[in-house]
Amino acid sequence: MNNANNEYIIVYNIGELITSSDPWIINNAAIVIEKGNGIIKDIDKNITIKDKYDLSKHETIDVKGDPVLPGFIDSHTHFVFGGYRADEYLWRLDGQSYSEIMKKGGGIVNTVDATRKTSFKDLIDTGKNRLDNYLQQGVTTIEGKSGYGLNIETEIKQLDVMRSLNNQHPIDVVQTFMGAHSVSREFKDDKDGFVNYVIEEMLPVIAERDDVSFCDVFCDEGVFTIEQTKNILTKAKSLGLKPKLHVDEIAYVGGAELAAEIGAVSAEHLLKVSDEGISRMAKNNVTPVILPITAFSLQEKYAPARKMLENGLDVAVSTDFNPGSSHSYSIPLLLSLSAIKLKMNLKEIVKAVTINAAKALDRDEFIGSLEPGKFADLIILDAPSYEHLIYNIGGNIVDTVIKKGSIVHKKDKLQYEKNNIMKGDK
Ligand code: NIG
Ligand code: FE
Repeated sequence: MNNANNEYIIVYNIGELITSSDPWIINNAAIVIEKGNGIIKDIDKNITIKDKYDLSKHETIDVKGDPVLPGFIDSHTHFVFGGYRADEYLWRLDGQSYSEIMKKGGGIVNTVDATRKTSFKDLIDTGKNRLDNYLQQGVTTIEGKSGYGLNIETEIKQLDVMRSLNNQHPIDVVQTFMGAHSVSREFKDDKDGFVNYVIEEMLPVIAERDDVSFCDVFCDEGVFTIEQTKNILTKAKSLGLKPKLHVDEIAYVGGAELAAEIGAVSAEHLLKVSDEGISRMAKNNVTPVILPITAFSLQEKYAPARKMLENGLDVAVSTDFNPGSSHSYSIPLLLSLSAIKLKMNLKEIVKAVTINAAKALDRDEFIGSLEPGKFADLIILDAPSYEHLIYNIGGNIVDTVIKKGSIVHKKDKLQYEKNNIMKGDK
């Protein structure tokens, strides 16, 4: 019996504990968390933990039989931006394509104009609000991309906003520099000039920061070519930024093959990926990040998730929250589309938003599964079993969110019982 006082936080009476590791499920389980650092010390059957630790001497959280899972990880978002593009969404519903709108001078550069004009404080306020929404849905780590500045000043503003939000919000924000998201208006007729500007002017400044982990490039038809992307990512790598890629979304360009060749951590979108690209990603340990809400919103064919899974790839799925192609931070929608449209099974889906998403962020050593040595980022569901994550269509069934051992969210309580609501017929 361990008798040290108040050293641990013990989460107990867990009905189903989904570890995202081996064994996949432990029924009637408990988790022991080190109080100082929020790291998991022990996981076992309830009865065994109660034997090993005197619960009365530690802080405890009684889960009362509900399911517990690792916190969700949203591994591909563009959540810091100014303005909106609701008009473009309605044009798309009228039949115009994302590429047509981009060619007409709309798309990403419109959000660039708005983001350049938006103050740091306003970007913090909207960013925080978005993170609060994510948190209530069980997200404990999120990736955020710059790329709505396309000049040094505003790219830095976006990264500074993310750094500040990371410091003030329970969600960990992993930062990706995406200066090559689109060609800026200043370089409209000189794409090579813009690529040169990213390589020579932006990257050296960004790489000086210690808060940016990745460099991403939109490599696709009408955006950056394979050659340009290779040049940007080769320089990024030499400066210590790990490569990520937006590829094969609008058209097949051999982007997954490039991701494999360059040693990218992840390749994302992949609506038009080739069989060869899939097998090269598998051989080179590239994590595919599939974005089904984007395919839904663009009314495009979904990425071939089953083919990737059959090739042994650790598929991650993510919201791709942004003002254009996927104006959604809905985790329930993401899970539903993964089941119905990507044809993934429950276990594959849970892995896709936990351990595989952690791999896409190169953080699987620390997060993404519940095992000793990893951070105690976990969620408690308000449901009889974790199957309800996909059985419940579109509803948020997350009750409690725990980040590094501390409760950071509990489902809001409705207020109508204590307020005196007047009905018309009374
Ligand atoms: O991931 N595909 C490129 N970038 C974003 C879209 C950004 C936008 O339309 O503002 C994406 O879908
Ligand atoms: Fe994206």
